[in-house]
Amino acid sequence: MNPPIINATDVRKVYFIGDSKVEALRGVDFSVQASEMVAVMGPSGCGKTTLLNCLSGLDTFDRGSVVIEGQSLEKLGDRRLTRYRAEHMGFIFQSYNLLPVISAAENVELALLVNGVHGREARHKALDMLDAVGLLDWKHHRPAQLSGGQRQRVAIARALANRPAIVWADEPTGNLDDDTSLEVLNLMRRLNVEHAQTFVIVTHDPKVGDFCDRVVRMANGRMVHDRNGSTTAAEDADDQGTEPDSETEEAAGIAGMSSVRDGPSADCGLQDSATPGTGPDTT
Ligand SMILES: Nc1ncnc2c1ncn2[C@@H]1O[C@H](COP(=O)(O)OP(=O)(O)OP(=O)(O)O)[C@@H](O)[C@H]1O
Ligand SMILES: [Mg+2]
Repeated sequence: MNPPIINATDVRKVYFIGDSKVEALRGVDFSVQASEMVAVMGPSGCGKTTLLNCLSGLDTFDRGSVVIEGQSLEKLGDRRLTRYRAEHMGFIFQSYNLLPVISAAENVELALLVNGVHGREARHKALDMLDAVGLLDWKHHRPAQLSGGQRQRVAIARALANRPAIVWADEPTGNLDDDTSLEVLNLMRRLNVEHAQTFVIVTHDPKVGDFCDRVVRMANGRMVHDRNGSTTAAEDADDQGTEPDSETEEAAGIAGMSSVRDGPSADCGLQDSATPGTGPDTT
């Protein structure tokens, strides 16, 4: 078997608020094969978002190691990490995080421009990508003029425009109704299969798990089991959300990683249109 594209070992993360301490990650081991689509599930507060942020380099962690495509995240300095993330990772969030004052096409295009794709090429790729998510006819619409599902499809186009190796999604269907969730899931699965991109999707929605190759479950800051029945030693330890803890020992050795935002990345060219739908009036 090939080495995993994501390999996390004993990842620990503690948050301090005043004297109170929350052990958000208590030694997570997690690996993902290239082109796998994996759902991360578990009760609210169990550490899913923290895990995604730590594995993607959006946040620092205190102990352990994260190796992505053979590259140790904790050994990258801030600038290289930011660059690496922009070129190799895409992000999809529950709240879409689109810029409200520019059009759907410009939202996708901006992500490409930020990553060094130039003028006409960026526009061309942005339109190709909007086409791939079935929204070419909505290219001039601003986010407020789109439905929730359409906004999330623009966010997916933006995240995937640069063909990142890994796409991280945190509750991508959290704001969508059932039918729209299915549309978005179908779209992500199609892009995953067509382009062999790796997806890690944090979710509460069991339907998301049905679309994935694998479901892993967290409880209380630990990985507890996957859908195929393999069970970690921690499974029976605790299965509640993480409780605050007033002790203040741990938390040494924070890896030198910067905290940054969404960073879609370069090269697209997805061609075929995705979800059918009635187009807007286009002139
Ligand atoms: N910035 C922060 N400062 C302090 N504590 C935090 C911070 N972010 C998260 N936590 C705590 O860490 C724990 C894990 O939070 P996290 O957001 O990872 O949970 P989650 O599994 O994503 O929950 P949900 O399903 O509700 O989104 C929680 O107890 C939370 O209160
Ligand atoms: Mg969360």
